[in-house]
Amino acid sequence: MTTAFEPVTVGRYTTRNRLVMAPMTRNRAYGPGAGPTELMATYYGQRASAGLIITEGTQPSPVGQGYPNTPGLHTAEQVEAWRRVTAAVHRQGGLIFAQLMHTGRIGHPSLYEEELTPVGASPVKAAGTVFTMKGPKEFVTPLPLDSAGITETVDDFVSSARNAIEAGFDGVELHGANGYLLHQFLSTNANRRDDEWGGSIEGRIRLTVEVTRAVADAVGADRVGLRISPANPFNDIVEDDHRDTYLALVDVLNRLGPAYLHIAEGPDTEFTGLLRERWGGTLILNPFTPGGYTGPEALKLIETGEADLVSFGALFMANPDLPRRLRAGGPFNTPDYTKAYGGEHDGYTDYPTLNA
Ligand SMILES: Cc1cc2nc3c(=O)[nH]c(=O)nc-3n(C[C@H](O)[C@H](O)[C@H](O)COP(=O)(O)O)c2cc1C
Repeated sequence: MTTAFEPVTVGRYTTRNRLVMAPMTRNRAYGPGAGPTELMATYYGQRASAGLIITEGTQPSPVGQGYPNTPGLHTAEQVEAWRRVTAAVHRQGGLIFAQLMHTGRIGHPSLYEEELTPVGASPVKAAGTVFTMKGPKEFVTPLPLDSAGITETVDDFVSSARNAIEAGFDGVELHGANGYLLHQFLSTNANRRDDEWGGSIEGRIRLTVEVTRAVADAVGADRVGLRISPANPFNDIVEDDHRDTYLALVDVLNRLGPAYLHIAEGPDTEFTGLLRERWGGTLILNPFTPGGYTGPEALKLIETGEADLVSFGALFMANPDLPRRLRAGGPFNTPDYTKAYGGEHDGYTDYPTLNA
């Protein structure tokens, strides 16, 4: 029986265990320039015993930013600043991928240093509000990307992936989940296009496919992962045909051969098994845990073969030495969600380790 504490191949790498730190936005990249700080290097360094760390969502371009104080990977200064993060993880033999997150219509003009409007598949405003420095604001109607805008967006993903490698990251995860730009294109409510980037399933998966292909061409498919969240309605997403859509996407991914597929599981948990069967590569699973968070019971997903690796969000936030605690059967610190977004050391780098 395979256990979560055994190595596994992820693209060109072999991880030291099958426990992944899930991407978590923490909004602590303060100051102009949206570069990671020393404190962020400490935070990621503390969690280097993960088999793989996936960073918080990182914008590939200024307009790709959807929340205050999230870091970017589109300037030379940001590349330089990320080096201390990747070095802190590598010093301890860890692996770290940068999550490239373009938030699309989930954003607000007040977030940007220059005058910009969020972009999207179609001029369809998301229901709800966005968190800004001036409190919650209604989402705005995004500017639909024209074909030049789509080319530019794909290029932004490519150049930020190159920047990630230059900054010392082992690879990148493309954020195709949770209602952000790629997911907006995959959906049937945010994407109302009738050109080759919408309409049919083939059209709606095209942007995710093209971004994956282009980034794989630039940095190697074995350094690129993709995160998806089929049937997750977060950020006002509707998917009328999620099963057919994601099976079609996986059929193309099988030909592109990225390092892994990362499923942020939604309410259709049965579908995960179908994806597992259809996808020929490495699978990271973040199981569906409504009203709670992924705990030690998820280790059995590795033992049953339902996943190759399991990712933990909240539990990794609260337990810097999570692999050790999982092996020991606990105890576990409790995550404090009130300190998740923004702030300083408190609730970020001060969760104790077992022997502290
Ligand atoms: C504070 C916080 C921030 C998050 N930010 C991101 C993010 O930037 N990108 C992403 O793909 N998912 C993000 N997520 C979702 C997590 O990766 C994960 O899917 C979710 O927390 C459920 O897993 P869990 O039950 O192990 O916490 C975030 C979750 C939390 C709690």
